Amino acid sequence: MSKIEIKLSEIPEGKNMTFKWRGKPLFVRHRTEKEIAAEDAVSLAELRDPQEDKDRVINPKWVIVIGVCTHLGCVPISNAGDYGGYYCPCHGSHYDASGRIRKGPAPLNLETQRPAGADVCRTLHP
Ligand code: FES
Repeated sequence: MSKIEIKLSEIPEGKNMTFKWRGKPLFVRHRTEKEIAAEDAVSLAELRDPQEDKDRVINPKWVIVIGVCTHLGCVPISNAGDYGGYYCPCHGSHYDASGRIRKGPAPLNLETQRPAGADVCRTLHP
């Protein structure tokens, strides 16, 4: 088990910060109310890898995902792309602000740390 301490107060609303965790980039995003509402409103029928936003987070203000594109493993850019979430410049995959794949070749959503990262998530509820 690898533990990481993240000072959430240092991540401004609307911003994403990248940490290194278990040898991989870990994206921690502090979402705005507008982003939360927009992701909550997305219909599962629109999604390639259907997953409700609420099932990807513990607290809707915070999205914690592994920053590895599910296509071929590049590191996406945050706050970029057609859906305002993450954009992978290697072959053009667009993820939304929940880390869900919306466009491009990636087959799956960015991996959340909701179930497996209890040690990470604990920082959300000190
Ligand atoms: Fe991200 Fe190909 S590795 S789109």
